Amino acid sequence: MSFNLLKGKKGIIFGALDENSIAWKTAETVYAEGGTFVLTNAPVAMRMGQINELAKKTGAEIIPADATSEADLDALVSRSMEILGGKLDFVLHAIGMSVNVRKGRAYTDEKYDFTAKGWDVSALSFHKVMQSLYKADAMNEWGSIVALTYMAAQRTFPDYNDMADNKAYLESVARSFGYFFGKEKKVRVNTISQSPTPTTAGQGVKGFDAFISYADKMSPLGNASAQECAEYTVTLFSDFTKKVTMQNLFHDGGFSNTGVSQEIIEKFSGQE
Ligand SMILES: NC(=O)c1ccc[n+]([C@@H]2O[C@H](COP(=O)([O-])OP(=O)(O)OC[C@H]3O[C@@H](n4cnc5c(N)ncnc54)[C@H](O)[C@@H]3O)[C@@H](O)[C@H]2O)c1
Repeated sequence: MSFNLLKGKKGIIFGALDENSIAWKTAETVYAEGGTFVLTNAPVAMRMGQINELAKKTGAEIIPADATSEADLDALVSRSMEILGGKLDFVLHAIGMSVNVRKGRAYTDEKYDFTAKGWDVSALSFHKVMQSLYKADAMNEWGSIVALTYMAAQRTFPDYNDMADNKAYLESVARSFGYFFGKEKKVRVNTISQSPTPTTAGQGVKGFDAFISYADKMSPLGNASAQECAEYTVTLFSDFTKKVTMQNLFHDGGFSNTGVSQEIIEKFSGQE
């Protein structure tokens, strides 16, 4: 299924690690819709991931960049404009990592240099990416920048740990930078708040398997898949959403507005 929604549009896609990654599905879908792009990921992830395979399939070049490094990001932005032959129309930030989660530290027992590192990678990196784009005047008018987030920014999910705080910061950066990008450059900035999704980052969260099936039973439309997230992202990159900006957009099958579902009630009925 292709509608050529992104014909002639150019961009950068961060965060494709393997075929389960939301960024991987997005790259495939953007390609199918006629967009061209540069793929980027942290140098260490390139060694572990299968990004070359994706690049080949989508005719993309790969530029390694650590999203916490301003120098890497500046080089990425200018090289991408050279490769793609001009300014950019879309950017996807699909980056997340908590050192506390990785090392099994509870929220009540954070090691703060782990916290700072996770915040830099997961949240501040979005500001750094946008500042790089802004200073280089790298975005075309009516361009679109999207980052991925999770509802733990609004409601408590204990095992999401310090990523909840990182996502709250990320969503705030989208609003704040969205103002300046809108006013000065006519570029929109949004976050998509996605259902739990079985990816490397997702599965790092404790109790993920139980949680993903709970979310599925709570959502009237069921969990949104990585492919569905890719498709939603494409609409935000397309010209059909030009005046949507500074929003946190829930893409979760209705989970965020559901108090309880019949399936969950049935699970507990007869229990004290
Ligand atoms: N999987 C879920 O349940 C879920 C739900 C909502 C939101 N999200 C968000 O979606 C985004 C994409 O994650 P995913 O689930 O596809 O998992 P993923 O593990 O496939 O992707 C995470 C990516 O972040 C990259 N990354 C880590 N450190 C980096 C750095 N320093 N510089 C550049 N890149 C770096 C990794 O290499 C990887 O490609 C993340 O922001 C995540 O928080 C995921």
